[in-house]
Amino acid sequence: MTHRKPSSLHPHKITIGKRDRVFVLTGAGISAESGLSTFRGAGGLWAGERIEDIASPRGWHRDPERVWRFYSQRREKAAEAEPNDGHRALARLEEQLGERFFLCTQNVDNLHERAGSRNLVHMHGELSQSRCDSCESEPFTDAHLYPDASTHMRCECGGRIRPNIVWFGEVPLHMERILDELSRCTLMLVIGTSGVVQPAASFVHWANQHHTEDRPVRTYYVGPEHPANAIAFTRVFEGAAGEILPTLFHLA
Ligand code: APR
Repeated sequence: MTHRKPSSLHPHKITIGKRDRVFVLTGAGISAESGLSTFRGAGGLWAGERIEDIASPRGWHRDPERVWRFYSQRREKAAEAEPNDGHRALARLEEQLGERFFLCTQNVDNLHERAGSRNLVHMHGELSQSRCDSCESEPFTDAHLYPDASTHMRCECGGRIRPNIVWFGEVPLHMERILDELSRCTLMLVIGTSGVVQPAASFVHWANQHHTEDRPVRTYYVGPEHPANAIAFTRVFEGAAGEILPTLFHLA
């Protein structure tokens, strides 16, 4: 268990030193203030849905029409959404820290990029891309909506074109890079994720494992509710990302 005292110099801020390396993990909560629904809880995307029907290879093979309908609606919503103050605060922080900043998002929208973030990976894929469900051909940019089966596309190999989203039972993307960044970071900031989906929910533990007296690691959570893994954080900042993030950082 890790509970370390936060800096008392600026009790409501996170002090980032000249040698800190910052790892940021974001979840659906950071896009909530842009009008995009989160997954869990009342009114969430999974309310009234069985996750395995929509977000699993088995669900896709059983009913591709239903799966594409769900992701088409999300494409439409994400295209209408604008980045909020939370996305913008992280882009500003990256501008200040340069290569000492790394962003890993579980989100499939592109609001971080549109706010100006550059050094980021989408571990659960991207809504604006599709790929073949059979061959290894590269994912491609695709803004199409697929309201019914007559609009579905086939790859040259005969496979079906599916959303480039990592579903339950599939391996998240960019894990090698993520593990490397987790082992090097001295400050982790997790924003707007319920802390129940693996492996992302374990990243805070992996970062904490690299804590030593000589090279302390601090881990912070920002969101309106405590996540399931709250106990692993040095401190939880309770509130909406768009309200907290713009004034959270103090660069020493
Ligand atoms: N600012 C910060 N956090 C917020 C805000 C806000 N304005 N509004 C809501 N939240 C928090 C909620 O308190 C909740 O803890 O965002 C979290 C969203 O949790 P989930 O809906 O579970 O989303 P997430 O953790 O990103 O889901 C992880 O699950 O279904 C899969 O692949 C999907 O990437 C997704 C993964």
